[in-house]
Amino acid sequence: MENTVKKLYSAVQPTNNLTIGNYLGAIKQWVQLQDEYDCTFAIANMHAITVRQDPANLRRKTLELLALYIACGVDPQKCTLYLQSHVPCHAELAWVLNTFTYVGEMERMTQFKDKSAKHADNINMGLMDYPVLMAADILLYQADVVPVGLDQRQHLEITRDIAVRFNNIYSPTFTVPEGLYMKVGAKIADLSDPSKKMSKSAENPNGSIFLTDDRDTILRKFRRAVTDSGNEVKFDAENKPGVSNLLSIYSVFSDKTTAEAERDFEGKGYGDFKQAVGEVVADRLAPIQAEQARLLADKDYLNAVLKSGAEKAYSAARKTLSKVYKKIGFYQL
Ligand code: TRP
Repeated sequence: MENTVKKLYSAVQPTNNLTIGNYLGAIKQWVQLQDEYDCTFAIANMHAITVRQDPANLRRKTLELLALYIACGVDPQKCTLYLQSHVPCHAELAWVLNTFTYVGEMERMTQFKDKSAKHADNINMGLMDYPVLMAADILLYQADVVPVGLDQRQHLEITRDIAVRFNNIYSPTFTVPEGLYMKVGAKIADLSDPSKKMSKSAENPNGSIFLTDDRDTILRKFRRAVTDSGNEVKFDAENKPGVSNLLSIYSVFSDKTTAEAERDFEGKGYGDFKQAVGEVVADRLAPIQAEQARLLADKDYLNAVLKSGAEKAYSAARKTLSKVYKKIGFYQL
């Protein structure tokens, strides 16, 4: 039955601090998915350098992210967990796939256009090529499914197009991956403006709860969260977006349904409600933060995880790359 287990691939960039939206939308789901799929998870530091990074910060964030994943329950025994730059096949396959991707397609990518506007002084080739590197990541591991946020949908579609294009020109080489779009995290809104998604790069940091926020900060941000007119704690996304967002956060962090969450606050005011939401979130994050700190102090362990992850990833990736090189006519020894 071994070979009926589907392959899953995903990656996250070791850049900004992650929010509880990222936790619910990605990391927490990965922990569940690792029992169902043959999972490979990467820390995408090669994608990260498409915008300018401070080297010391990039290095530090890499280990912090690795420790965070493990602290959240991503188990290096169950899945392959590695750093993208440790496996040279990504850059190699990306180069080949570049010759199967049109400049016009890349110019039309929404994220490229957004980031070009944001980093107008550094519209580098890597920024434009970002989706091709992402396609290389996914196709190297013959992934069947790719869990990502909705913002990555266009990149996944182009990955599928590139895979089909290559398979049609040569013969079936790449698995054509399906996107698995994460919904829960995508629904968490900014605390100070519930019409916006909670973002790790929001202008107002009070609207986002970061996984690194300490208890006091979390309680303070929830206390300041925007509620709505009226005084009833009721789920009504249309008319009470602020309260509804807080109720959703409360229910996922306390493993309760929305109805149960509403019942907890019957007859209570917004003040008590916001305090309670802050407390469940802080209570849930505290052990994760403690475990992350413990792991960060054990660099030998983290290095060992990265080393064995890179070995496992390399052997899978190399197999695909060799096939590709053979098909396109690269003379092999
Ligand atoms: N671009 C993705 C993001 O910013 C990260 C990423 C890189 C990725 N390579 C990937 C996600 C491969 C899924 C599969 O979220």
